[in-house]
Amino acid sequence: MTNRQSHGWIDTDHYKIEWNDALLIGNRSIDTQHKRLVDMIQSIPEFNTARDDRVLNETLEYATTHFSDEESFMHDIAYPDLKAHTNKHKTLTRTLLAYARNYEKGKTDLYAFKHFMFRWVREHIMDEDRKIGQFFKTRSQTG
Ligand SMILES: [Fe+2]
Repeated sequence: MTNRQSHGWIDTDHYKIEWNDALLIGNRSIDTQHKRLVDMIQSIPEFNTARDDRVLNETLEYATTHFSDEESFMHDIAYPDLKAHTNKHKTLTRTLLAYARNYEKGKTDLYAFKHFMFRWVREHIMDEDRKIGQFFKTRSQTG
């Protein structure tokens, strides 16, 4: 199934994310992290049957560092939705930890993890993080 029409930038047949400027929130370091996160998810091997939890752990580690940087940024710009947004990061962190645990026990695979992360990226970066960018832009314009 191709989601190209409904979401524009995700092709679930091939798990490709086309990075574009609409995803920028206006802070260079956060934007670089988002791009890196997208690259990481994109490069998760889908059919690797070998048990190798490096991918999961690296993603988990990168995501948690990114969340705390993004939370600092929201704090710096007095983002009104900081608390709700931070809670979404916490929920994802818990889910990532659960994936890592289940993967260790052989209860899930990298394909499921990649699929989940794609959905998350679409919903979170596209919708939630974009709101930070919009707020930041308006705030910068109004001075
Ligand atoms: Fe976020």
